[in-house]
Amino acid sequence: MTDPVVIAIDGPSGAGKGAVTQHLAQRTGFHVLDSGALYRLTGFAARLDGLELTDAAAVATVARTLDVHFLPRQAGDEPFEVLLRGAVVTDAIRTDQAGVDASTVAALPRVRAALGDRQQAFRQAPGLIADGRDMGTVVFKDALVKIFLTASAEIRAERRYNQLKNKDMDVSLAALLESIQARDERDSSRAVAPLKPAEDAVVIDSSGMPLEAVHEAIWTVVNKVIYSVPTNNAE
Ligand code: DC
Repeated sequence: MTDPVVIAIDGPSGAGKGAVTQHLAQRTGFHVLDSGALYRLTGFAARLDGLELTDAAAVATVARTLDVHFLPRQAGDEPFEVLLRGAVVTDAIRTDQAGVDASTVAALPRVRAALGDRQQAFRQAPGLIADGRDMGTVVFKDALVKIFLTASAEIRAERRYNQLKNKDMDVSLAALLESIQARDERDSSRAVAPLKPAEDAVVIDSSGMPLEAVHEAIWTVVNKVIYSVPTNNAE
């Protein structure tokens, strides 16, 4: 029996990968991996433990031993309730600081290695939608569909601003733009698994596209590939 199919959705912060992933999950019934949440949880737990985020050995141990649960939610803008060591951290890991911390620990090769097996474990029948930075280039190189979703930094900052405002978080648009640009730079220039489209990825720039148009463009690609080949959920 071959491995369940994977749809890889990569791209920079705020490009709309989360919304696309949820939309595809509804249409396909596939499982979901939010790999960014694992990096966010690692940074968050390391801070709780009072660690230096650049202490690769200590942070990798945190990543390897993360006690985390994703519980599906029926309502709200987050599809999962996230529990870290038994405590709800769903919103706490979504702050801009948690994103910056995630990007810092994500640059450590030992942390990436520690989270590798955990990400592979999400690959279960009937299939997986994997959202991240290196899903198509490193973690699921054999993904059947690879999408690289991007948008200008200004538009992504504006979307993030609206998301955080909706959660009643106190944020400034200018600060978010600066943070997004710094995060892009760090995620794209790191030595291990840098943010870049896989050679066989379909690149979609969502700047100026309504969300529905993005969903449809991606669904057209997914539908053509996934449902025109035999999937491997047959016994
Ligand atoms: O998708 P996100 O904003 O939740 O991700 C937070 C950070 O985690 C992002 O700045 C880079 C890092 N990340 C990564 O390096 N590799 C992934 N597959 C997912 C996220």
